[in-house]
Amino acid sequence: MNEVKKRSTFSSKLGFVLAAAGSAVGLGNLWRFPYLAAKYGGGIFLLTYVLLAVTFGFALMVAEIALGRKTGLSVVGAYKKLNKKWAFLGYISAAVPIIILPYYSVIGGWVTKYIGTYVMGEGTAAAGPDYFNNFISGTWEPIIWFAIFVLATALVVLFGVEKGIERVSKFMMPVLVILSIGIAIYVITRPGALAGLKYYFVPDFSKLSSKTFLAAIGQLFYSLSLAMGIMITYGSYMKKDANIENSVFQIELFDSGFALIAGLMIVPGVAVFSGVENLDASGPGLMFQVLPQVFDNMAGGHIIGGLFFILVLFAALTSSISLMETVVSIFQDKCKLSRRTIVILVTIGTLLIGLLSSLGFGVLSFIQPLGEGTSLLDFFDFISNSVIMPIVALLTCIFVGYVIKTKTISDEVKLSSKFHFEKMFIVITKYIAPIGLVLILVSSVLNTLGVITL
Ligand code: TRP
Repeated sequence: MNEVKKRSTFSSKLGFVLAAAGSAVGLGNLWRFPYLAAKYGGGIFLLTYVLLAVTFGFALMVAEIALGRKTGLSVVGAYKKLNKKWAFLGYISAAVPIIILPYYSVIGGWVTKYIGTYVMGEGTAAAGPDYFNNFISGTWEPIIWFAIFVLATALVVLFGVEKGIERVSKFMMPVLVILSIGIAIYVITRPGALAGLKYYFVPDFSKLSSKTFLAAIGQLFYSLSLAMGIMITYGSYMKKDANIENSVFQIELFDSGFALIAGLMIVPGVAVFSGVENLDASGPGLMFQVLPQVFDNMAGGHIIGGLFFILVLFAALTSSISLMETVVSIFQDKCKLSRRTIVILVTIGTLLIGLLSSLGFGVLSFIQPLGEGTSLLDFFDFISNSVIMPIVALLTCIFVGYVIKTKTISDEVKLSSKFHFEKMFIVITKYIAPIGLVLILVSSVLNTLGVITL
């Protein structure tokens, strides 16, 4: 983002919430949340997630939006303006979207492929047990779909037609939500769904571990686009009289609500079609394996399936566009190249790095960085969500709590409204979040090194 240019602001209060929610809602809700919920014990994951969202997610999002609105700058500039020594935090945050964009686009490519599948009338084949694995373990096919997705994203960024996409997706998003609710209702009324529902909603405390926390907190950051400077940038566009606290509630409610619905289509779907005992073994392919089975059983399901994946594609594109915009603006601030050159370079970089994640399911599947059965995509996902983002969040809390002090944030929030949860905000930012994050990070490092199993 060019720091000298005068910033435009969102014209309406709802405009801010919609834009922030548009960036937040994407594959994180539809693809990532359900498979993590399935893998990490269902109900206990859900409970952990919700508790973290209303406390920790709330505090961090308020802080980021207020930082952006106060300084009127995006991430690197915002930290620098408040304290020169902390500019480094801006740079670490900036690394996150650079890591996420390539593998996000690989998943986006899978979504695009499934649109093709339904258009070609192959919905029944897609419901077969090996369809998904055969597809991702191939070499060229997943790469081509991935490249199509990246190029589509790049074209939008290059020609600056986000406005058009936004207009379309403002209409598509509600349709996606309604369709998802319909699919969820269909799934949970199938015989056998009850076991899945129970798994999803009833917490089993014996499954609680430091891994549950790490997965939940990583998902929280990912899904709300936190701990990577995005919300700082959004905050910088926000008007001074808009209510920060309410906006945060609305964004969280919308984002988590949608994730919850996505989980309701997919987790009980596993119970219905392959048995609840398989839930623990879920991985990044879950959505692509379960939903085609659901569609294959539904009357008119193949048409619904095609429509569904088209809508998902739009949700994914709005997110990937905003991810690429972020990466481009980081380089635009730092080098003297034209915007066009930067978009081209970022596109090439994304294609090259994403290639690793894509091939990680095929010819590179012998590389299992996080242990038996994990992929390169899991690795990039882990590094960004479970390592860098918790570190950024920890440093942000220290910065806000002890360097610029929580009052700076409170004052900014109070410019436009009361700050109802100010006390909670202070306690979380200064004490609970830093201690919790240190514990989570240390235990995760020790876990990964195999020193302890928690
Ligand atoms: N939150 C988005 C999702 O749920 C993914 C995402 C992560 C994102 N970081 C982002 C989107 C930055 C836009 C910008 O899919």
